[in-house]
Amino acid sequence: MTSTSTGFDVRRIGGRIGAEITGVDLRESLSEGLTAEITAALVEHKAIVFRAQDLDDPGQLAFAAQFGELTKAHPTVPSADGLPNVLEVSGDEGIRANNWHTDVTFVLSPPKISTLRAIVVPPYGGNTLITNTAGAYRDLPAELRRLADGLWAVHSNVYDYVQPQFLTDAKAERQKVFTSTKYETAHPVVRVHPESGERGLFIGGFAQRISGLSTTESRDLLRLLQAYVTRPENVFRWAWSPGDVVVFDNRITQHYAPDDYGDLPRLLHRVTVAGDVPVGADGGRSYVITGDAAEHYTPAAN
Ligand code: SIN
Repeated sequence: MTSTSTGFDVRRIGGRIGAEITGVDLRESLSEGLTAEITAALVEHKAIVFRAQDLDDPGQLAFAAQFGELTKAHPTVPSADGLPNVLEVSGDEGIRANNWHTDVTFVLSPPKISTLRAIVVPPYGGNTLITNTAGAYRDLPAELRRLADGLWAVHSNVYDYVQPQFLTDAKAERQKVFTSTKYETAHPVVRVHPESGERGLFIGGFAQRISGLSTTESRDLLRLLQAYVTRPENVFRWAWSPGDVVVFDNRITQHYAPDDYGDLPRLLHRVTVAGDVPVGADGGRSYVITGDAAEHYTPAAN
C-alpha cells in the first residue's frame, strides 16, 4: 500500500495491472493536485477501482469530466435517456461485451479513459476483465516486437462478430444499430502512450486486418499477438458490487465482460473521456479510411 501526498491510499490488485484507491469520495470535486495524483496512478496501474461510491449519473459525469472533455455516449448507439454522454451497458441480450476490445477504436481518436459505474449487479458472474497491453508488448520475443512495431491494423465497427448460429433477433437488431454508419480507421499495431511513453499492442476486437496482408495472414498474425494480450499474467478481474466505479486507461488496455450470468439483470453506466490520435513506434499517426473523424461523438481530433 502506498499513500499519496493528497491523502489517498493505493493498493495494487494484480501483479501487472489494477489498483484500488481508498480515501477519496468521488461525489466531491477533486482538487487539481488530487486529480493529478489519480491520473498518475491510472497511468501507472492502468485500471483503478473505487469501491462503494455513492454516485448518480450527474456525479459520474462530473467525476469523469475532471480528466478532460467527455465524448458522447457512442458514435452509433443511442445514449441513456436524456443523458447524451452516458452509455447504458445492460445485460440485455445482444449488448454483452464478451469479446476482448478497446473502446471505440474504429474512430480516429478513441476515448482515452473509460469510467464504468455498477448499478445492478448479478449475485454471481458478470465480472469485468481488464488487460495490460504494454505487458503484452513486453512479453513478445524481440523478433515479434520488431515486426509489430512496423505494422498497422484497420479497425472497423462493421464485421460479423456474432456467429450465425448465435444470431438471435435481439443481436441482429443491435448489430444493425451498431453498424448503421461504417467507420474504418488505420491505427498502429504498437501505440506509444502519450503520457508514459510505454508501448502497447493496440489491436482488440475491432482490428479486422493488418494493412498489406491477406485476410488469412491478418487473422493469423492478429491471433498470435492477441494471445499475448490475454495471457492471465496481464489480466485483472473485477467482481462488481453496486456503487463500484472502475476507471481504465483505454489507450493501453483491453477489456472483456464474460457472458456468464444467464438471465440475471446487470446494468453499468459508462462515461468516456475524449482521447487523442494514436501515434505509432515510428511517429506515424492514425488516419481515417472510411467515414469521417466522428466529430459528432468526440471533440475534434488533435
Ligand atoms: C464495455 O465494454 O464498456 C462494458 C464492459 C462491461 O460490461 O463490463
